[in-house]
Amino acid sequence: MKYSSITGRPASVTTDCLVTTLKAAHDVGKQLGVDDYLRDALRDFTDKLGKAVVLPLPARKRIRRLMIIGTGKPQLGSADFKKAMQGAAGLLRSANFRTAVLHLDAFDVAEADSHHRTRLATTVLSAALYRFDAPKQAEESPSTLNRIALLVDGRSRASATRAIRYANALDAGMAFTRDLGNTPPNVCNPTYLARQARTLARAERTRCRVIDEKAIDELGMGAFMSVTRGSDTPGKLIVVDYRGGKRGEPPIALIGKGITFDTGGISLKPGAAMDEMKFDMCGAAAVLGCAKAVIEARLPINLVAIVAAAENMPSGKASRPGDVVKSLSGQTIEILNTDAEGRLVLCDAITYAARYQPKVVIDVATLTGACIIALGSHASGLFSNDDGLATDLTAAGEYVGDRAWRLPIWDDYQSALKSNFADMANVGGREAGSIVAACFLSRFAKQVPWAHLDIAGTAFTGGAAKGASGRPVPLLFQYVLNQI
Ligand code: BES
Ligand code: MN
Ligand code: ZN
Repeated sequence: MKYSSITGRPASVTTDCLVTTLKAAHDVGKQLGVDDYLRDALRDFTDKLGKAVVLPLPARKRIRRLMIIGTGKPQLGSADFKKAMQGAAGLLRSANFRTAVLHLDAFDVAEADSHHRTRLATTVLSAALYRFDAPKQAEESPSTLNRIALLVDGRSRASATRAIRYANALDAGMAFTRDLGNTPPNVCNPTYLARQARTLARAERTRCRVIDEKAIDELGMGAFMSVTRGSDTPGKLIVVDYRGGKRGEPPIALIGKGITFDTGGISLKPGAAMDEMKFDMCGAAAVLGCAKAVIEARLPINLVAIVAAAENMPSGKASRPGDVVKSLSGQTIEILNTDAEGRLVLCDAITYAARYQPKVVIDVATLTGACIIALGSHASGLFSNDDGLATDLTAAGEYVGDRAWRLPIWDDYQSALKSNFADMANVGGREAGSIVAACFLSRFAKQVPWAHLDIAGTAFTGGAAKGASGRPVPLLFQYVLNQI
């Protein structure tokens, strides 16, 4: 989706569809001389939140249709506004308009200025109007709508232009993340991710470095190697380094779990829904998507996105439960469960990130099924050794409606990782699985403000609406924006 801004009176725009509220629709009706028709046509419309209706206007009007979005009350909270925009998006998705104009000023959202409203609306629209170009012989219903104009007050044009620039960058970043997530695992393997990163790094001020398996081994990443060795497809450590900020300014480091398929390894997963483990690279896709958004918006900031890409397969070369490996940090790990592979590739990537002397390290991973049990799909799990960083990430997610919720990583939980044969085991017991996983990672991030986002519940949907969501790219991008 491409967003742009226009100014002027709502009644004087030219579009296939003007999206507005009931009250504003009546005003437009009056100005166009169709108020009787509208009043009649809307007799049965109940102004409830999430309801939406499209009405054709009489011929030869420059506005061909009005989409009226129910609000239920004059002033909306930001969650209500999100719901209203989802209602609009549902109809925009199924209709075949070529152009649409969103009358943003018609919506009164408590504590949200026009910049915030623009960002919330476009984030919802981008999420809902995305389509994956699947290799099918017959495309179900090709979308004709690829441009939405936001009708803004002429006085706030400058701030709207900025909001729209961010919205377009975020849209591109999210779509990239979702495309990577949805691409089948026989195509989207570590080599494919490296190629996508290289393409991304053709942009200005951006470089890409791909470290292959031989070099990963030579560097001493025994934890990473223990996962990737089981696969015939070689793993990669991929770095996209964007220097939009001042020279010498420490970058933000994002690290993504890029398990392009997680069978569980020798601790094999059950067969049901195993196809969804192609989404186990959504953390990697999110950090690359955030990098894409940052690059497109040409933000004046330094950002390093690091992807730990590997496939977790059972084979004669795969790790066994009981194997002991040495991580890049020097700490040894007893692998008790080969299905806890995400933390093994991430711990070495976190150690590796120190080379970039980052001001913060944020890792993003579909790390634990337990996180889905704890938080469902509404919030990503957030863990951090730094209260300021945790607060900033929570606030960023809240702002764009891509929430995260913090869970503790108190020392009390660390004892679950005790091993008789190494510095730590890679799993604990059944209790507090997401926290124990985060505690494992925290042992590799002692020297830096670090946060971990467990996106097992938020990065993708299963079932009939199966697909990658693009989360938590909105949160990450907003966090980066807030650092400028
Ligand atoms: N990739 C999975 C976690 C996952 C599960 C993500 C379901 C999304 C949906 C991860 O590698 C894994 O297998 N974790 C284990 C950890 C356990 C062995 C301690 C899990 O959650 O069962
Ligand atoms: Mn696993
Ligand atoms: Zn996994």
